[in-house]
Amino acid sequence: MLDKNYWQDRYLNRQTAWDAGQITPPIQTFFDQLEARDCRILIPGCGNAHEAAYLHNKGFHQVFLCDWASKPLANFAQQYPGFPEEHLICANFFELNEQPFDYIIEQTFFCAIAPNKRGYYAEKTAELLIERGQLVGLLFDKVFEQEGPPFGGTKKEYHTYFDSIYSDVRIEPCYNSIGPRQGAEFFILATK
Ligand SMILES: C[S@@+](CC[C@H](N)C(=O)[O-])C[C@H]1O[C@@H](n2cnc3c(N)ncnc32)[C@H](O)[C@@H]1O
Repeated sequence: MLDKNYWQDRYLNRQTAWDAGQITPPIQTFFDQLEARDCRILIPGCGNAHEAAYLHNKGFHQVFLCDWASKPLANFAQQYPGFPEEHLICANFFELNEQPFDYIIEQTFFCAIAPNKRGYYAEKTAELLIERGQLVGLLFDKVFEQEGPPFGGTKKEYHTYFDSIYSDVRIEPCYNSIGPRQGAEFFILATK
């Protein structure tokens, strides 16, 4: 079962093949055009949170991490002692109750949840965004043969979750994915 113990064990056993080891170029490119250092950014299912490390080093100070596995959050806190402890939220994303965010960043979290929760993911991300806030990141452009995680999908399927909830949903092939994911990712930019 894909519960928090499953994920915590994956970190404890160092079975984290999904971890790109650093911020991925599509998300870095998005961050690099943000000007306001005080925008509120949530990274759900953050794992080792390379995106947060990048933002922190660039002076963004309203970055919040959520993961229900405590291990990666503890590692992050140790590595970045200047990162506010209260921004490290060890909880079930679907139960989050936070002040709304300007941006929510998607990096291999959507593909890690059971596909029957995808509609709920679309609803929950929108609930956690301000009006005109944006969900930004990567979705697999691939249907995997073996049972997930990761769970893949198609553009058509993804639109069925987001179109009725967000006012503008762009899902396009990603041109600057990391090597192993080239040609197998979409970039999503969904505006509430
Ligand atoms: C495939 S990993 C991706 C981690 C990270 N984003 C990365 O790219 O390295 C999925 C992450 O989502 C977390 N996760 C899964 N379901 C969750 C939930 N309902 N609430 C919070 N975190 C969850 C797991 O603990 C895990 O760290």
